[in-house]
Amino acid sequence: MKKIAVLTSGGDAPGMNAAIRAAVRYGISMDMEVYGIERGYAGLIENIFLPMNMRSVSDIIQRGGTILRTARSPEFMTKEGQELAVKFLNKRGIEGLIVIGGDGSFRGAEALSKLGVPTIGIPGTIDNDLAYTQYTLGFDTACNTVLDAINKLRDTMSSHDRICIIEVMGRNCGDIALNAGIGGGAEIVLVPEVPMTYLEILDRLKADRSKGKYSSIIVIAEGAGKAEELREKIKDSLGASVRATVLGHLQRGGSPSCRDRYLGTCWGVNAVKLLKEGIGNRVVGIRDEKFIDMDIAKAVAMKKDFDYDLYDMANIVSNSVIKS
Ligand code: ADP
Ligand code: F6P
Repeated sequence: MKKIAVLTSGGDAPGMNAAIRAAVRYGISMDMEVYGIERGYAGLIENIFLPMNMRSVSDIIQRGGTILRTARSPEFMTKEGQELAVKFLNKRGIEGLIVIGGDGSFRGAEALSKLGVPTIGIPGTIDNDLAYTQYTLGFDTACNTVLDAINKLRDTMSSHDRICIIEVMGRNCGDIALNAGIGGGAEIVLVPEVPMTYLEILDRLKADRSKGKYSSIIVIAEGAGKAEELREKIKDSLGASVRATVLGHLQRGGSPSCRDRYLGTCWGVNAVKLLKEGIGNRVVGIRDEKFIDMDIAKAVAMKKDFDYDLYDMANIVSNSVIKS
């Protein structure tokens, strides 16, 4: 392949710029022409292609977000939208496409592959909700952002003997809550994969208080409930001061961690290598610290496993319900 393009789609994630930079620079070093498409599939069906050079991706590795910008495109989900995309790619002689995004973006990439455009997906979403890969771009940075918030909230909450509920992102996946909760020493982690009633939560907090532990951190994934609603439910029964904080989109921004820059760089290169060999219809990822690639359809059909052992371990080390 001599001409390829790259786009970012769906929710942005720290590390996307590292992947763009690597794909552009490695592609050019392989004598390819590389184009950047603005605003994901929306820009593709509006025919917005930017010729990239070595300098177009200078000074971006440390930046969160995506220099190509991103979007959600309902038009691209239609047959007409996808045919328009193929028409514009063919018109410019673009032979391969790299899509950096999450599950939805990969379904779009699969559709383009079926229409004859060799496409490679790079996992970019802070949620870490793709089953075929152990990590996605942005997850590590988001966990560190949450950790920073937990540290700060812990200072004030323990000074006031307060209970703090911190709501983090993750509509269907509790990975951010669980990983940041473990790292931050949260007493209770609530995830969509493990339902817990508020009475169970109350029991645990009451047990802690009877042991003389008056300040606790509860991390709740947005898919497991709303921090403010939980606060309303528990505050009166406990007779304790309870505060709720929603971290929201803070978690999507910020300078990427070393891990996200490293993954983005390696995946950008691996995606170009596949296209260079004429291989499309794949997604790149990482398992057991080994870089992998897999058929797109197979990858998007996989169901993500939740790590129940890790969840149990988090409960044990939180020392929340263990009698001293
Ligand atoms: P993410 O990639 O982060 O999961 P979305 O689910 O919002 O984000 O998907 C991003 C875009 O991918 C959508 O706006 C749409 O253009 C495209 N897309 C999503 N699902 C499909 C699908 N089933 N077929 C074709 N394109 C899709
Ligand atoms: O990137 C994934 C995610 O952060 C989810 O956890 C969250 O619910 C969603 O995106 C919010 O995104 P937006 O506000 O862009 O729709």
